[in-house]
Amino acid sequence: MCGIVGYVGTQSALGVVVDGLRRLEYRGYDSAGVAVLADGRLLLAKKAGKLSNLEKALAESAEAELRSGLAGIGHTRWATHGGPTDRNAHPHLSADGRIAVIHNGIIENFARLRAQLQAEGVEFASDTDTECVSHLLAAELAGVPGSPAALAEAMRKVCGKLEGAFTLLAVDAQAPGAVVGARRNSPLVVGRGVGENFLASDVSAFIEHTREAVELGQDQVVLITADAIEITDFDGNPAQGRDYHVDWDARAAEKGGYDWFMLKEIAEQPQVVADTLRGRIGETGEIMLDEVRLTDQDLRDVDKIFIVACGTAYHAGLVAKYAIEHWTRIPCEVELASEFRYRDPVLDRSTLVVAISQSGETMDTLMALRHAKEQKARVLAICNTNGSTIPRESDAVLYTHGGPEIAVASTKAFLTQLAACFLVGLHLAQVRGVKYADEVAAVVAQLQEMPDKIEKVLGTMDPVRELARELATASTVLFIGRHVGYPVALEGALKLKELAYMHAEGFAAGELKHGPIALIDHGTPVVCVVPSPAGRGVLHDKIVSNIQEVRARGARTIVIAEEGDEAVVPYADLLVRVPRTPTLLAPFVTTVPLQVLAAEIAASRGHDVDQPRNLAKSVTVE
Ligand code: G6P
Repeated sequence: MCGIVGYVGTQSALGVVVDGLRRLEYRGYDSAGVAVLADGRLLLAKKAGKLSNLEKALAESAEAELRSGLAGIGHTRWATHGGPTDRNAHPHLSADGRIAVIHNGIIENFARLRAQLQAEGVEFASDTDTECVSHLLAAELAGVPGSPAALAEAMRKVCGKLEGAFTLLAVDAQAPGAVVGARRNSPLVVGRGVGENFLASDVSAFIEHTREAVELGQDQVVLITADAIEITDFDGNPAQGRDYHVDWDARAAEKGGYDWFMLKEIAEQPQVVADTLRGRIGETGEIMLDEVRLTDQDLRDVDKIFIVACGTAYHAGLVAKYAIEHWTRIPCEVELASEFRYRDPVLDRSTLVVAISQSGETMDTLMALRHAKEQKARVLAICNTNGSTIPRESDAVLYTHGGPEIAVASTKAFLTQLAACFLVGLHLAQVRGVKYADEVAAVVAQLQEMPDKIEKVLGTMDPVRELARELATASTVLFIGRHVGYPVALEGALKLKELAYMHAEGFAAGELKHGPIALIDHGTPVVCVVPSPAGRGVLHDKIVSNIQEVRARGARTIVIAEEGDEAVVPYADLLVRVPRTPTLLAPFVTTVPLQVLAAEIAASRGHDVDQPRNLAKSVTVE
């Protein structure tokens, strides 16, 4: 989950690489470092902490040569092996100082490799698994005159000795003008420029220079020079990448006047939900998902659905289950991806596994989908990142059109995942004939109203901001909901934990009385997500009773309810109104105040809203 950049061209490599790292910092921010090739020398700078620490050190450095180099690599780290210190920061040098390496992933056999190298007399300068690779490359290149081709060959040989997940970039002091990369189970994309080429964990790192990208396959090595991109497999056989054009520009990855990316991303939700629906709905309200690459027969054969995902994407799956089962009558289970393959789930050819992932790189989700494929299930990815590993390894993919999500805590991805899941559910119902065309069209029309409704919620968030200032000193905040409001409660609590580092928990409102109600003390804030009184009146009445139960025990109730719902007024210490919305679609509007609440509480507490401690956006380790 570290961020990786490589550059060869005509600009200052240091400038390009540091700018790229700034865009990749969401992937990890425990330390940052660069290595630049200049005048036959390999120059290095690295610092523990956020990229700003490195930038400060670079600004104070007298090393003008560092700026003059035209080839280099850079890394922003989320620590796995070895604490977040200067010495464990990447790049890692070989003992002779010839080779510098950066790495994302975990080299699982590093202990054995390290012991072998130490037995040969190599002294290690860090506690990382990565450093093995620098020494192994140096050993392959010992006595070999430096050249781009020799570096690529050495990388292929070393990759053959590595187990686990890795993206590696390396430079050789004796091969100026070249950066070599390799990938297994970890992301790496090539940016194709004119007289310059780029390597990065994702396209945002080079998007201001080029929008032409090349997706690498599994177990491939890539060599870039200013004028060429050469791809091979680990055995040296020539291989092809997939060329694609990135259809968003650099501005989409900037803050655009907001204090935090997260606030900008919350504000973008009406647009990205509309973008995710666009082009997928026909003139008469039918769902058109031809792009998904699953035939109607495939969909008719499905007799069970598993949704696998992590974090916020898992909560999107929990919401989707209610809609999918209701519309299709196919049993649908939702499972944390990290648990899925360890409990021997019952899967076969007629099982559809839906893997939801914003990044498309989450290792737990990837491993769950691989397990599903081994068991012959069909896998459909719902993903926001074109060309990432999860959609590439799936049988089919439906992309969310969320644009780049930079803040570590996921917001707009969640709402676009809901939109995509609902499209899948309605499509299944349509193809299998369990819903009439006009019934599908009626739900589609409701879905199409969501962007305006979200916009309306966003326009009424001042009381929530005020509440955030008050709650900033609370020691615990509880969230309750029923039906689709339950996953919304879980998501509200997750956001608060991630951003404000406060104790927060989400409960199914009916479960409260079976234990958690003991947590309620005088003044405990309880956020209550209330379903529409229209449609499923019982659901509404039950949660009104639950609100009374917590209030009777001293809770301070913050009630999220739709306009016109008067029944909740007597029991709400603070009432947050959302537009009237059909029960199943309510999470589109009820989640938004919880996102704003968490971001504002975090800001009030003085936290970094975009980069919360200990987290990373793209978690590429299990
Ligand atoms: C990390 C992030 C979460 C995210 C989860 C799943 O834990 O911090 O915000 O929800 O990964 O990520 P994915 O990219 O698979 O949706």
